[in-house]
Amino acid sequence: MTIYGKIIGTGSYLPPKRLTNDDMAQMLAGLGVETSDDWIKTRSGIEARHYADDGVYSSDLGAKAAEKAIEAAGIGANDIDMIICATTTPDNFGGFPSTACVIQHKLGIKSNCAAMDVSAVCCGFLYAMSTADSFIRSGMCKRILIVGAETYSRIIDYKDRTTCVLFGDGAGAVVLAASEEPGILATVLHADGGMGDILNLPGRPNKGAIEGSPYVHMDGKAVFKQAVSWMDRVALEALEKIGMTTSEVDWLVPHQANLRIMRSSAKKLGIPDERVIVTVNEHGNTSGASIPLAIDTGIRDGRIKPGQNILMVAIGGGLTWGAVLVKI
Ligand SMILES: CC(C)(COP(=O)(O)OP(=O)(O)OC[C@H]1O[C@@H](n2cnc3c(N)ncnc32)[C@H](O)[C@@H]1OP(=O)(O)O)[C@@H](O)C(=O)NCCC(=O)NCCS
Repeated sequence: MTIYGKIIGTGSYLPPKRLTNDDMAQMLAGLGVETSDDWIKTRSGIEARHYADDGVYSSDLGAKAAEKAIEAAGIGANDIDMIICATTTPDNFGGFPSTACVIQHKLGIKSNCAAMDVSAVCCGFLYAMSTADSFIRSGMCKRILIVGAETYSRIIDYKDRTTCVLFGDGAGAVVLAASEEPGILATVLHADGGMGDILNLPGRPNKGAIEGSPYVHMDGKAVFKQAVSWMDRVALEALEKIGMTTSEVDWLVPHQANLRIMRSSAKKLGIPDERVIVTVNEHGNTSGASIPLAIDTGIRDGRIKPGQNILMVAIGGGLTWGAVLVKI
């Protein structure tokens, strides 16, 4: 008997503070930095993003998304036997305790529940899904909570207009459960550490000081080039693993970084725009949170239906890239 990891509930959470591109332009003007709604929309498709207030951390956003996913799954928090959190903006510098552990505590889960973070930047949620799927298929876990939670507003340099307008805060979560019904059908993960310097946060703590920049650094053109070259190829690799074609994909859910990258990948795959879930316009790039936010949006607004095949695909810092094909 084949055991699958099946999504049984999803949830998401955006902090209430919403900044439109005009709000951004006004805020940046105060710092002597010029941008416009037209530039941001044309180059990235982004129209707005959400920012967490001071004192609100990735775990707070993640716990709220998780509560909704657990409720949608119709289980109790203590039925979860593992939490995996994809985040590049953990609550604590250095990442410990892990944001997953903090979320576990905030959900009131007492014991018999492992918790760990996965760090694969914008591809983090797919690394987390793939890891969770392995734990479920091996029989080690029955119900895993996978959270993508980010507070990028803390790590962007507002004087660097090429990056600061692109990112936002938010969280999404899914509960993956062991099932005899098909769920996750294929996963593919890749990495190339040799391209680490085109998208990174170079700073590190060293004896009480921060050595290097504590802000996201991105060579936008280089990342763009890698994204449009890998996203469709890795999507096809996942489909080929189980002998499916793009015509059998009901929804493409790409990492939400840039509408131009998403449209280009969909076009290369022959998937029409109407079968692509897009949230980047409202959320900006929420890194590890972007795919679960998009899936929850599609499920709750009724577009994604049980039995449909969803193809998730992402590329992120590392570089890391991957795809997860799942039957809902
Ligand atoms: C970042 C990105 C939107 C920039 O778009 P681009 O078309 O490459 O733009 P460029 O960097 O060539 O900049 C073009 C001009 O716009 C200017 N510009 C950059 N940011 C600007 C902003 N926020 N507002 C106004 N002008 C801006 C530049 O200074 C440049 O001006 P110049 O021609 O006078 O020098 C694009 O490279 C991109 O999306 N990259 C991938 C990002 C991504 O997906 N990252 C996450 C992956 S996980």
